[in-house]
Amino acid sequence: MKIILVAAISEDGFIADSNGKVKTWTSKEDQKFFEDIKSRYTLMVMGSRTYNLSPKKPTAGVLRVVLTREPEVYKSQVIEGQLAFHNMSPTAFAAAYKNYDACLLLGGGLVYEAFLDAGLVDEMYLTKEPAILGEGTPFLPNKSLNLSRWRSVSKKKLNEDGTTLTHYILKK
Ligand SMILES: NC(=O)c1ccc[n+]([C@@H]2O[C@H](COP(=O)([O-])OP(=O)(O)OC[C@H]3O[C@@H](n4cnc5c(N)ncnc54)[C@H](OP(=O)(O)O)[C@@H]3O)[C@@H](O)[C@H]2O)c1
Repeated sequence: MKIILVAAISEDGFIADSNGKVKTWTSKEDQKFFEDIKSRYTLMVMGSRTYNLSPKKPTAGVLRVVLTREPEVYKSQVIEGQLAFHNMSPTAFAAAYKNYDACLLLGGGLVYEAFLDAGLVDEMYLTKEPAILGEGTPFLPNKSLNLSRWRSVSKKKLNEDGTTLTHYILKK
């Protein structure tokens, strides 16, 4: 299964402001890109903090998997085939869902870092927004991204404000 990381990052390396918000500083062009890419995949994985801050919109034919150490807390929210809660490592996740061709990795920072550390990310779509947040949730909580392992296959300017979208593929 191919795992594709998608993230919008501020100029100073954050994925959420100090209130956990994303839409307040990301561009409408990036928000459109995010909706478009989500519409092309049927499996997505995210951390519980991201889930708790996201709109709750189950979609038929799309399975969202939320990682949490306490899946029992979310028991009443499970929707068969659409919303699942698991306490599993990235490696266990990849093994459990190996029948899918691809999965979107929706974050947040702890989950991005865990999948990158496990060597399970094949591609990344990183939007760089010109906003400077000063504080918030870092893209990777414990390290900086080592781009030497990645090949940039496309870089697009999304608007006149300086938002860029780069598609990276892991060098094999
Ligand atoms: N800009 C962007 O592109 C973007 C994308 C996604 C999210 N965000 C933002 O990022 C913020 C959240 O990021 P975050 O780093 O604080 O948290 P997060 O990665 O969304 O979630 C962390 C939680 O996920 C669970 N978890 C992670 N790995 C696990 C594993 N291997 N097994 C079991 N559970 C696991 C734990 O949940 P429990 O505590 O329940 O055990 C952990 O506390 C939010 O503000 C969100 O809006 C931004």
